[in-house]
Amino acid sequence: MTLSPPLPASRYDPLSQLLHWVTAVAVVVAFALGPERFGRLMREGLDPATRSDIVWHESLGVLVFVLTLLRLLWVLLRPAAPRVEMARWMHALARAGHGVLWLLLLGLPVTAVLALGSEGHPLTLLGGLRIDRMPAIADAAVAGWADWGEVHGFLGDLMIWLAGLHAAAAIVHHVVLKDGVLRSMLPGR
Ligand code: HEM
Ligand code: HEM
Repeated sequence: MTLSPPLPASRYDPLSQLLHWVTAVAVVVAFALGPERFGRLMREGLDPATRSDIVWHESLGVLVFVLTLLRLLWVLLRPAAPRVEMARWMHALARAGHGVLWLLLLGLPVTAVLALGSEGHPLTLLGGLRIDRMPAIADAAVAGWADWGEVHGFLGDLMIWLAGLHAAAAIVHHVVLKDGVLRSMLPGR
């Protein structure tokens, strides 16, 4: 009797799907709440804890960071990701796109904390949690390397453009190419 190898899964496992969709919603809501003119408001003496958009933006951003670390750990442990048949260039492009999305999911929270720390602004989260000063960042050389608030805002815009392209590609796969790419990230058997 010959044993045939197990068929490759056609969907991501439920935990990968859950983490993907919770992260996607958190990123989009955080983007919509991205605080405009933050530096000016701080110079005018505003306590960011009094602004629910800022508190929600920062809390969702921290959630995205924590979920991304958990996801990356899960990527090492989970069953192999599904592999839908497609042209080699398309596969390479999808992998590159995912790579940049992973980098942005980590880079956005990191640049935000660098911005707050280097400018001496508090990090204010839901539940009244706050960190008023981050001397380890303020006193480090990295604080002077860039206007981290500008870098963060730029990366936030880039993330939304790239996530939009990524979502559009998933829809083209579903509607035009009629392959299983979008279904692989949706629940079902
Ligand atoms: C999913 C992650 C995030 C996205 C997509 C995102 C997106 C953005 C965008 C687009 C802006 C610019 C808003 C504008 O000028 O109109 C912004 C500003 C800002 N974000 Fe985030 N953000 C994220 C995570 C975070 C986190 C984790 C924090 C805090 C720890 C944070 C704190 C801030 C602050 C303080 C500003 C104002 C920066 C400045 O102008 O100096 N963000 N964000
Ligand atoms: C901010 C929003 C989003 C981010 C940051 C994001 C990020 C990612 C990442 C990092 C992966 C790889 C997942 C893994 O290996 O576990 C992925 C896969 C996937 N995403 Fe998203 N995504 C977003 C929104 C969306 C939306 C709106 C759709 C659909 C309309 C979508 C459809 C998919 C599909 C179908 C896959 C699997 C495709 C493949 O393996 O090539 N994503 N996404």
